[in-house]
Amino acid sequence: MSITTHQLMQWKPQGRAIVAVTAWDYAIAQVLDEAGVDLILIGDSLAMVALGHETTLPITLDEMLHHAKAVRRGVKRALLVCDLPFLSFQESPQQAIHSAGRILKEAGVQAVKLEGAHPAMVHTIAQIVQVGIPVMGHVGLTPQSVHRLGYRQQGKSPEAGERILQEAIALEQAGAFAIVLEHIPSDLADQITQKLTIPTIGIGAGAHCDGQVLVTADLLGLSSRQPPFAKSYANLRQTITQAVQTYGAEVREGRFPEG
Ligand code: KIV
Repeated sequence: MSITTHQLMQWKPQGRAIVAVTAWDYAIAQVLDEAGVDLILIGDSLAMVALGHETTLPITLDEMLHHAKAVRRGVKRALLVCDLPFLSFQESPQQAIHSAGRILKEAGVQAVKLEGAHPAMVHTIAQIVQVGIPVMGHVGLTPQSVHRLGYRQQGKSPEAGERILQEAIALEQAGAFAIVLEHIPSDLADQITQKLTIPTIGIGAGAHCDGQVLVTADLLGLSSRQPPFAKSYANLRQTITQAVQTYGAEVREGRFPEG
């Protein structure tokens, strides 16, 4: 049985941490799921780590669907959440419901994630939730706003911190089942986590969130560049380079295949 949004919400009062990662294809999703993660996000960061774009902005809803379907085929246990990409939800609540609905219908994921929490977006999220689609919010550094905010830490001043706290409260009231807090000060993330009844999932937001998420390419040491708050638990760039060089040498020297 797959983990549900309701289960994740119940873990918060139990103090059980949520382990979340991103995925972009079948093979990586299967390995992550078998490794026992709780939540797999088909994040639009795949535009950068899997498709080589400079930002997350170029990826389309159809491209996200293509990757989400592949990830779906690799996952049996983890809760599957898919990002709504830039301009697939900002125009109107109707557009957002249609895009979110396509992701659930066509890719078979259980929930969607949307960046931002200004009043119009909170209204949109409430409407998506009302048609029965679980929504994960995302505040702090929101990469789809890179040209306005940059990749800088958000919420550093008391006013900016208060604004992010109020956004998180508004998302909870709109019916979000969880919220990603990206690149904000640890004490602000702590304050938000204590204030909300829904779980917070941090990335570059310190140790006090109810769970953590990492972009899997960073976690595995596959990214050519990564944010300062990411941690690599392996160096797959080096492992792959060594394996391919060994294969190349064996082919060139007539040692593979044998006989
Ligand atoms: O797209 C993504 O990978 C994300 C994570 C950074 C949370 O939104």
